[in-house]
Amino acid sequence: MDEPKEVTIQNYKGWEDFYKIEKSAKLDFFMRDGRMLDILFSQQFDRKFLDNMCQLATQIRRMALTKMGARKLSGLLSHKRAMLYFVQPSTRTFISFLNACHILGMKISEIRGTTTSSEVKGESQEDTIRTFASYVDLIIIRHPEAGFAEKTAWLLNQNNLPVAIINGGSGPDQHPTQALLDIYTLERSFRNIGGMDGKKIAMVGDLKRGRTVRSLSYLMRNYKDVTLYFVAPEVFRMRDDIKSFLNKHHIEFHETDDFASVMPHVDAIYMTRIQKEYSEDPTSEAETYPAFHFKSEHLSRIPAHCAILHPLPRRYEIEVAVDNDPRAAYWRQERNGMWIRAALIAYIFSAEQVIFDEFS
Ligand code: NCD
Repeated sequence: MDEPKEVTIQNYKGWEDFYKIEKSAKLDFFMRDGRMLDILFSQQFDRKFLDNMCQLATQIRRMALTKMGARKLSGLLSHKRAMLYFVQPSTRTFISFLNACHILGMKISEIRGTTTSSEVKGESQEDTIRTFASYVDLIIIRHPEAGFAEKTAWLLNQNNLPVAIINGGSGPDQHPTQALLDIYTLERSFRNIGGMDGKKIAMVGDLKRGRTVRSLSYLMRNYKDVTLYFVAPEVFRMRDDIKSFLNKHHIEFHETDDFASVMPHVDAIYMTRIQKEYSEDPTSEAETYPAFHFKSEHLSRIPAHCAILHPLPRRYEIEVAVDNDPRAAYWRQERNGMWIRAALIAYIFSAEQVIFDEFS
């Protein structure tokens, strides 16, 4: 199939300046009628919203257990249409969004690469998205470029097109809905030990280019007395923007390359993959950084309640022998993604009350 050769570059006046504005200062721009319309970065989420989403996700999964409940859910958004525009590889995010839309009865269209759209003829990405906005109520975007989802939302809002945008992963920058499902998984793992507050969480691997750990770190502002341990090789240390954010919000964090020393002290370990698709030096791709892998022999070193998470896909970071341990939370985490994404979409279209009323 043809790859786009000469994509048209268009100049949008005002975008560059808007993009530079600090995220916390432009939250209102992405809201309509007192609720978020566009979901772009995890600084948009406050504690009340996060707690609400976790509850809603649990209600939806409960409701979906019965045929009657499932039928009721599938009537909620049967008048809405969604577009999945995924021009960067994805398995879980795509499938879980697709199924989240189906649970709520939405109609779906999808593009999974630029080779089958008019981008091959040179149409700009912005015009492509604007075209989707002519047909659907929600566009979910995965894109290799940081800021692309935000630009789309900015563009549509400028043109008064009330189409919701969800960022399903924006290059090495952010993945806010992954952060939602990570919080949901952590909250569920800690439900008998007081939830997220006061917990110690290690993030391990490629912290520099892993968008999931970046988005999740921003959410820590919403919880009391959380301590983060950034465990990474020197070349993949967490970037300064996240560290400044944590400092500004008085969130304790430590950096180390000694994984074993952290293991006995944490309530959760969030493993990540080396993001080799962003490597400038292909010769470094063979290096798998085994000192940052979690092996079955480590299971005896971590606390009995410690949850092991991974956004997946995994390479060599977690040995398969770990999968059967009850502390391995990553397959549950993957499933949680579908429920919390359904919750998020229900929220965007103001459908959550019907769901909450179901068991009240
Ligand atoms: C992550 C991503 O795409 O950022 N995957 C996912 O969405 N579950 C993590 C990764 O690719 O390493």
